[in-house]
Amino acid sequence: MKKDFKILAIESSCDETSCAVVVDGRVCLSNIVSSQIDIHTRFGGVVPEVASRNHITAIDNVVKLALSTANLTFNDIDAIAVTYGAGLIGSLLVGVSYAKGLSYALNKPLIAVNHIYGHIAGNYLTYKDLTPPFICLVVSGGHTAIIRVDDYNHHEIIGETLDDAVGESFDKVARVLGLGYPGGPKVSALAENGKNFIEFTKPNHELGYNFSFSGKKTAIINYVHTLQQANKPIPKEDICYSFEKSAVDELVEKTINATKEYGYKKIVLAGGVSANKRLRAELTRAARENGIECYIPKMEYCTDNAAMIGSAGYYAFINGVGIADLNLAPNPSLSL
Ligand code: KG4
Ligand code: ZN
Repeated sequence: MKKDFKILAIESSCDETSCAVVVDGRVCLSNIVSSQIDIHTRFGGVVPEVASRNHITAIDNVVKLALSTANLTFNDIDAIAVTYGAGLIGSLLVGVSYAKGLSYALNKPLIAVNHIYGHIAGNYLTYKDLTPPFICLVVSGGHTAIIRVDDYNHHEIIGETLDDAVGESFDKVARVLGLGYPGGPKVSALAENGKNFIEFTKPNHELGYNFSFSGKKTAIINYVHTLQQANKPIPKEDICYSFEKSAVDELVEKTINATKEYGYKKIVLAGGVSANKRLRAELTRAARENGIECYIPKMEYCTDNAAMIGSAGYYAFINGVGIADLNLAPNPSLSL
C-alpha cells in the first residue's frame, strides 16, 4: 500500500453536507461541514425532501472547498469514499451519485462506507495510536449499541436498543418541552441547571445489555401533559437533568459491565450523542475507576462529518472490503 494515501470522503446521510480529505486513515487535511440546521429548525426536525434538495445545492462547493483547504487538486486524490447507509434515502442518493460521478471521471477507486463505522473511526482521527480490539458505545440519532470491535472491519453487537435510539429520545424530550431542534444540545444545556432528580422509570435489569428509551420518553410526555392540564409550571430544567442523568447512567453502567465481562481493556465512544458533556465526563470517570482506558472523540468528529468516513474508508480499502463500482446503491436501513 502506497504511503500518503489520500481519500476524498463524502457524507450526506442526514442534514449535513460534508467533504474531507484524509491521509492514511489518520490525518485530516480538511473537513468541511455545511449544516442545514437553520433550515430544518423552522419545521422542528429534518424534512427529508428539503434535506436532499439542499445537499444538491451545497455539495459542489463543499467538495471544492475541501480540496482547496487541503491545498490539493483532484489529481492528488487516490480514492473516493462515500457513506451509502444508513440514512435518509434522498440525502444518501446525492452523496452516492456525486461520488460515483467523481470516481468515474477521475478513474479512481470508489469505497462504500457504513455511516456507523465512520462514527467509530472518528476516534482513529482523534487518537493516532488507537487500534482495535475495544468495546465501543455507539450513541447516535438512529443507533444505540454496545459492540465488540475486534478488528477494523469486524464488529459484533453485545447489546442494543429495543426501541428508540438515545439521540432520538433526546430529540423527542426536547420537542415535548418546546425546546426546538436539534434536541440533544438543548436538553443538555437546560440539564446543567437542573437540581431535583425525578425518577420517571425504574432501571430494568431484565434487559441485560440491551436498552429501552421509549418508556422514559413516554413517562416524560405524560408528566408534562398532566402538569399542563392542571395549569402548573413545568420544571423543564429538572426534567432535562433527570432524563439526561438516567440515560447516561444506564449507558455508562452497561458499557463498563460489558467491558469487564468480555475482558476488554479499552472503551471507545462514538456517534452524535458522544458530544454530550455528562456522558463524556461520566464514562471517563467510570472507566478510570475500573482501570479501563477511555477514548472520547474530538467534538468535531462527534456529529456527522466526512473526515470520519475518510478514515473508515481507508481501513475498509486496505482490508479489501467496501470496494464499490457504479452499481453502488444507497441503503437507508443498513445495519451495523
Ligand atoms: O450521529 P448524529 O450526528 O446523526 C446520526 O447519525 O444519527 O447524531 C445526531 C444525534 C441527534 O439526536 C442529536 O440530538 C444528538 O445526536 N446530539 C446530542 C448532543 N449533540 C447531538 N445529544 C445529547 N447531547 C448533545 N450534546
Ligand atoms: Zn451520524
